[in-house]
Formats: sequence, C-alpha cells, structure tokens
Amino acid sequence: MDTPQQLSRSSLLLHWLVAIGMIGLTAVGLYMSRAEQWFLYPIHKSFGVLVLGLVLVRVVWRLRNGWPAQVAGGTAWEHRLAHAAHWLLIVLTLAMPISGMMHSGAGGHGIAVFGLQLVPSQHKPEAPGEAIPFNASVAEWGEALHEWLGYLLILTVTLHVAGALKHHWVYKDGVLRRMLGQRIKA
Ligand code: HEM
Ligand code: HEM
Repeated sequence: MDTPQQLSRSSLLLHWLVAIGMIGLTAVGLYMSRAEQWFLYPIHKSFGVLVLGLVLVRVVWRLRNGWPAQVAGGTAWEHRLAHAAHWLLIVLTLAMPISGMMHSGAGGHGIAVFGLQLVPSQHKPEAPGEAIPFNASVAEWGEALHEWLGYLLILTVTLHVAGALKHHWVYKDGVLRRMLGQRIKA
C-alpha cells in the first residue's frame, strides 16, 4: 500500500511502465505516420494494445487505493492544477489506445498483437494496400481523436514533468524522489 512517506512497488512499477509506454508510443506514432514507415505500424499497434492492458490494471489500482498523499511544497492552485493533470493523464492513457483501436479496427486495417489477430483486416482485392472500412465514421472519429488527443497528451506530459522538476529543484521537496522509490519525510 502507498503511505505518505513511500509509494508501493505496484504504484511505482505501473507509473513508470505506463509512462515509458506512452512516451515511446507517442514518439513512434508521430514518426511512423509522418515518415510513412509502414513496417512500424504493426509494432506500434501491438505495444499499444499491451499498454492498454497495463493501463486498465493501473486505473483499477488508482481508484481502489486513492491518489498519493500530497507533499507540502507548492501553492494551493499548483496542487489543484497537478491533481487535474493527473486525472487528465489517466483519461488520456485510456483514450489513446481506444481511439487507435477505433481507427485501425473499424477502418478495416485490423488489429494484431505480435501476429495474434484480435480484429481481422479487410483489404481491397484490387489494391491490397488500401482497406475497406467496417464502419467509416467510427474509423474517422478514431483517427481524429488519436491525433488531437496525442497533441493534448504531449502538452499535459510536458506540464507534468515541469511540475515534477519544479518540486525537485525549486521547492526541494520529496515529490520526485518518492516517485523514484525513495522513502521521504512527509
Ligand atoms: C519522465 C516523465 C515523468 C516524470 C518525471 C513523472 C513524475 C511523476 C511524479 C513525481 C509523480 C508524483 C506526483 C505526486 O506525488 O503528487 C507522478 C504522478 C503521476 N504521473 Fe507521472 N511522470 C512522468 C511521466 C508520466 C506519464 C507519461 C504519465 C501518463 C501518461 C504520467 C502519469 C502520472 C499520474 C496519473 C500520476 C498520479 C499518481 C499516480 O497515479 O501514480 N506520468 N509522476
Ligand atoms: C497506448 C497508447 C498509444 C499512444 C500514446 C499512441 C500515439 C500515437 C500518436 C501520437 C500517433 C500519431 C498521430 C498523428 O499525428 O497522426 C499515432 C499514430 C497511430 N496509431 Fe497510435 N498510439 C497508441 C496506441 C495505439 C493503438 C492501440 C493502435 C491500434 C491498435 C494505434 C494505431 C495507430 C495508427 C494506425 C496510427 C497512424 C495514424 C495515421 O497514419 O494517420 N495506436 N499513435
């Protein structure tokens, strides 16, 4: 269990695995779609579905255990902003893989996890590079959400990391050290 002085192994592991997954998938997603690196698509989708599994465990864990206790440093409005950012990050960790799956699944491109097919693809026999959507409007919504929520994720994570560094360097409190696994004085 989390205590005000120390976060549990589960909280630490889930925070950092999901953080690395989300940052890595954002970087790969932006690169592959702009540089048209088609070989990266199945890798992005496979890791994306696996990260969704971790995110679901994390959400249940967070809702059952509550948020980590607040550390003293920072003003009241900064605490409110940080709390809002944590909620937004949790929602975005769910919305990003779900919108990606709407885009790929409903768009007829298929979803597979390292070769294990979850949703079949549906390609045009005369043009195998193109897909026939199962539901074009769901696919279009998914595509637009995946792109725009991706930009919102980048903004929110930037703010979140800036906040963590401000705690560490300006307030010199234990917020970042506690998330790195250390026991702090609360
Ligand atoms: C290098 C990147 C990151 C750093 C340095 C970092 C640092 C931190 C720190 C210090 C806390 C503790 C805040 C507190 O005690 O109130 C925290 C909490 C949190 N972080 Fe991050 N974080 C990073 C990336 C991410 C990413 C990418 C996400 C999700 C997309 C994320 C989601 C959260 C959430 C939801 C919390 C609330 C507490 C919890 O649920 O564990 N973080 N982070
Ligand atoms: C789990 C977290 C995920 C993150 C953070 C993420 C992030 C991103 C980002 C930032 C882009 C670039 C979007 C753009 O500017 O057009 C992208 C592209 C893409 N993602 Fe994800 N993604 C995730 C999961 C998934 C999943 C689960 C799927 C499907 C199963 C998926 C399918 C795609 C596809 C097909 C593209 C290319 C879109 C295009 O070419 O227009 N993503 N992803």
